[in-house]
Amino acid sequence: MKKQLLALVVTLAVSASALAADIKVVVSADQPGPVIHRNIYGQFAEHLGTGIYEGMWVGPESKIPNVRGWRKDVVGALKDLKVPLVRWPGGCFADEYHWREGIGPRNKRPVKVNYNWGGVPENNAVGTHEFFDLVEQLGAEAYVNGNLGTGSAQEMAEWLEYMTAEGKSTLADMRRKNGRDKPFRVHYFAVGNEAWGCGGNMRPEYYADQYRQVTSFLRTPAHNRPIMIASGGHGQMTSWTEALSKGVPGVNAISHHEYTLPTGKWEGKGAAVGFPEAEWLSTLAHTQRVDEMIRKNVAVLDKNDPSKKIGFYFDEWGSWYDPEPGSNPGFLVQRNTLRDALLAAMHFHVFHNHAERVKMTNIAQMVNVLQAMIITSKDKLVLTPTYHAFKLYTPFQDATSLPVKVENNPVYKVDKLEMPGLSATAGRGKDGKLWVGLVNANATQAAELDLQVGTATPKSVKGQVLTAGAMDAQNELGKAPQVVPVAFEAQAVGGKLTIKLPAKSVVVVAVD
Ligand code: AHR
Repeated sequence: MKKQLLALVVTLAVSASALAADIKVVVSADQPGPVIHRNIYGQFAEHLGTGIYEGMWVGPESKIPNVRGWRKDVVGALKDLKVPLVRWPGGCFADEYHWREGIGPRNKRPVKVNYNWGGVPENNAVGTHEFFDLVEQLGAEAYVNGNLGTGSAQEMAEWLEYMTAEGKSTLADMRRKNGRDKPFRVHYFAVGNEAWGCGGNMRPEYYADQYRQVTSFLRTPAHNRPIMIASGGHGQMTSWTEALSKGVPGVNAISHHEYTLPTGKWEGKGAAVGFPEAEWLSTLAHTQRVDEMIRKNVAVLDKNDPSKKIGFYFDEWGSWYDPEPGSNPGFLVQRNTLRDALLAAMHFHVFHNHAERVKMTNIAQMVNVLQAMIITSKDKLVLTPTYHAFKLYTPFQDATSLPVKVENNPVYKVDKLEMPGLSATAGRGKDGKLWVGLVNANATQAAELDLQVGTATPKSVKGQVLTAGAMDAQNELGKAPQVVPVAFEAQAVGGKLTIKLPAKSVVVVAVD
């Protein structure tokens, strides 16, 4: 009996390892694809809750250490993240923002009600000059979102002239009087936001006509001409892309939005912590839908814009959960856990796959709002699991994408839901190294895979792993952080390089 049991155990062990050995990740290093634009790792900062005020901007008089009003600790952490681009001032806020209210002495600026987000006072302390100071401190590019909803062609045209005019101009003189001689460098400019919803409840054709009219008057010096973005659709919609890519002059890119809700329902989105494994899976599996959205829209673009001049930007994405109990629901405060780190990494993999058209994306949002990088409380801050995921993937900024295949990808199943268990991406970094990103979505089972570059076996891999004991592990103020990257390496043995991915983990490695 004892012998029989032993035999059974051995058989099980052998078949388990045989199964594990079947999983192969194969990188085709000899087939370079498009460059993964660094702005795929872009951020979004809206006048919403404590996303800007308190979270980043404390004002020059604050006791919290700051540079001209921007928190030193937050800016320092964001610089470490190599934030390439920041979108501002909204979101929905953008279509109620009037730029003239945000210039000149701060104590003279009007106070308005932020109707979109909690109905709180907006004192306009952060305006054009402060925003550009932030992006310049970060070394990031600026993405300014214009107001189409309650604004006009004239207001947007004058804002651009204020920011970019070089010679004699009353608006440029006003900018100089307000402390800025040199024009601001505006890398991107969008005409409105979510025109299908908070931006004016328009139809695509009506918006397309508005875009034609408005952009006829948006003038800048040629060498400071922003990439002009038309506000597109969301989710599986393609009608906005269709209308905007069919001969509308001046459309350099179309923006698209999609948030991940664990339940898929706006009423009862799902909790940020303490969720069931089925909601872990449904959240991560949503990235497959994002892939589908991009494919469908890119197919429309390929039909209407075969010379591939128009970009497809995902300028709002990320998790959106039920608000943190006790918080102002209009402030969109939510916890950030290991699940968010995996969600971010899996989005990166999807965006890398579409690097040809997707040259910018912006996670919502940078600090304290939705899937944030940083959570602050008074003078303290904590780096979220999403922050660490972004940090792990910095070698992919401006890397050349490489095709990667997962052979015998195990199915991850919970109840009736299922998805591929592993996700992979690869690129040749600007540092010349071959980088591979791997996600094991399975919340309970580790995975072993063999890595191959073409038909060759690499010598070793070295990088970092991000994982934790619980699906909703988080980093909280005043407590030891539970989700932090640790060193990870593996060596080839007997002609095979086997990588062991812990359950619910993200691994990014350089391949030798
Ligand atoms: O990111 C929060 C909001 O979500 C944005 O303001 C809006 O564009 C979207 O609906």
